[in-house]
Amino acid sequence: MNLKLPKIGRNDPCPCGSGLKFKKCCALKPQNESPAAVAARYARDYGIRLKGPEDVEAIRRAGRLVVDTLELVARRLRPGIATEEIDRWVHEFTLRHGARPAPLHYRGFPKSVCVSVNEEICHGIPGGRILREGDIVNVDVTSVLEGYYADANRTFFVGTPGPEARKIVAVARECLRRGMAAVKPANTLGDIGWAIQSYAEAQGCSVVREFVGHGVGFDFHEPPQVPHFGRPGSGLVLVPGMVFTIEPMINLGRRELNILPDRWTAVTRDGSLSAQFEQTVLVTAEGCESLTPWED
Ligand code: MF3
Ligand code: CO
Ligand code: CO
Repeated sequence: MNLKLPKIGRNDPCPCGSGLKFKKCCALKPQNESPAAVAARYARDYGIRLKGPEDVEAIRRAGRLVVDTLELVARRLRPGIATEEIDRWVHEFTLRHGARPAPLHYRGFPKSVCVSVNEEICHGIPGGRILREGDIVNVDVTSVLEGYYADANRTFFVGTPGPEARKIVAVARECLRRGMAAVKPANTLGDIGWAIQSYAEAQGCSVVREFVGHGVGFDFHEPPQVPHFGRPGSGLVLVPGMVFTIEPMINLGRRELNILPDRWTAVTRDGSLSAQFEQTVLVTAEGCESLTPWED
């Protein structure tokens, strides 16, 4: 015979005594659920495939290659080069290390890396554009090594930056840092978004909404979507074994964007500078571990 427990309504006070509504508290944190049961529930309800230790090892190896690729680009960048030269460096370095550049032919993308300059937000196609002193340039590298994907990007200065370039790059870098600091079990995707949005907007900058972070590892873009805006406590609860990117795109001016006729390049509608930083992160029992730990 089943024990009869009083049914708790989602809007009732949480029985744990937190003072929050049940739906905002212990309803979000199923207790006594085995790791296998959590994995099955995340797969069934959200299409999220949690990563085991061997998967994480493999993504970390792909991530090491992504970080090395970004460092190679950092060493070679200088005024006067065309963005398609960066594509050639990334393409050759990736193949030489036994990996494949994920962007190449992805949904028709024609190159091996995204290169986005100044007012370009993301998905810039490398080509004849020449980098000038004072430009900022984002290089977004995704490599597939032994079937596993890792995805990271950085925004670099070309020569000596002006004050606006310095500001937007500093704010975007700090947005990623704060987003990663919000990654730990029982926090939510909304906590990550809020950490980013609240800081960016307090600095007078804006957060792009049309592009989001994403699950990654077995594929280029997996569930969940990871918005860089949101409200504390909203959205999916983070659990150990989740691997996703955080990749805030931050504009110096307004957040609206246009897509160029090449159907890929996103640019700020007001022409203001935009910067981005991205890492692939793992939710651990303790918090957050980067699988693409670049330093700049
Ligand atoms: N690397 C990008 C991201 O962070 C996606 C680029 S898609 C491409 O999700 F086709 F433009 F390469
Ligand atoms: Co990404
Ligand atoms: Co990327």
